[in-house]
Amino acid sequence: MYARRAERLAPTLPASVPAGTIGFDSGHAFPGVLPDLTREAERALTRYRAETLQYAPRAGLPDLRAWMAGYTNPGLTPEHILVTNGAKHALELVCRLLIDEGDTVAVTAPTYFSAIPILKSFGVRFVEIPQDEDGLDIAGLDTVPKFIYNVPDFHNPTAVTMSLERRQALIAFAERHGIVVVEDSPYREVRFEGALPPSLKSLGGDTVIHLGTFSKLMAPGLRIGWVAAPPPMIAKMAQLKTDAGSCPLTQRIILEFLAADRLSEHIKLVQATYRSNRDHMVAAIEREMPSASFVEPHGGYYVWLTLPEGTNGDHVAACAAENGVAIIAGSKFFANPGPKHHVRLAFSHATHEEIDEGVRRVAAAF
Ligand SMILES: Cc1ncc(COP(=O)(O)O)c(C=O)c1O
Repeated sequence: MYARRAERLAPTLPASVPAGTIGFDSGHAFPGVLPDLTREAERALTRYRAETLQYAPRAGLPDLRAWMAGYTNPGLTPEHILVTNGAKHALELVCRLLIDEGDTVAVTAPTYFSAIPILKSFGVRFVEIPQDEDGLDIAGLDTVPKFIYNVPDFHNPTAVTMSLERRQALIAFAERHGIVVVEDSPYREVRFEGALPPSLKSLGGDTVIHLGTFSKLMAPGLRIGWVAAPPPMIAKMAQLKTDAGSCPLTQRIILEFLAADRLSEHIKLVQATYRSNRDHMVAAIEREMPSASFVEPHGGYYVWLTLPEGTNGDHVAACAAENGVAIIAGSKFFANPGPKHHVRLAFSHATHEEIDEGVRRVAAAF
């Protein structure tokens, strides 16, 4: 009955987490950093009503495309930008543009777990690339895929950032073989310390398709992101986008927020909040789970725990759930079957008290 792309997918959605559970699982924003957009929404619905309650231009509001172009990389123009319903939607459009069933896509092992079903639904075969503290190591890839997908800044789930040398080697590989790199970088501004190397887009130009999002910059519920690519690709992706344009009301609310010059102050709040949550979670893990190892995150939302060899992270996650704390088993982050002795803990959403209590319960489960 089902099409092949649906056959490959799980028959049910994951069960929702029971009320009262401490949430270390999802990449939800901390409630205290969700911006008050009342004024922006009111202006969008009054002054801009004729725009915000109509169909939008399919590629997005011109002013927002212009902002996204400048923000992604100076030198890009609005024609390089397609506004999407978030970065995941942007990845889906890239797949619709580039993937035929059976094509190979390269991802890190582990990789962003929500990217896996998107890629799977297009019938891709995965090839995995190893990574270490310097990020994805292209020297470990021995085939030429259709494209390489990566999260180079504060990688989800491992939190590692690609070094400049690794970025240059990745771009050189892609240029040599005439393929593209898909750069998914939602956490670049969620930085706690240190400087980041230049983005892949700024190093690789047209060799890189960049996915952007307001989910971590402002709020995930806005569901606005973008894809930055050469204009002919944007023109085709705009035709493959079947929603008649992302919501213009939300786009205008974001433009009003930007026009009021609130973004930089907001990013400072985001950084301070998540830095303090990171500090709290790292201290709790060191206190409660001394045999777990991890790379301290310098940005992003997550700690990737390596448990002693032989530990089953699936069981740890199941026991943690019974103890009232939601975490994600590391096995979910491998496109092909992978090691089991990891779990991912998000520090973005919980309070300090919940972090202390939650890590105690994860340690008990472990
Ligand atoms: C690697 C990665 N990409 C993208 C996103 C966000 O996607 P979206 O813009 O669809 O909310 C996340 C959020 O968790 C992420 O971790």
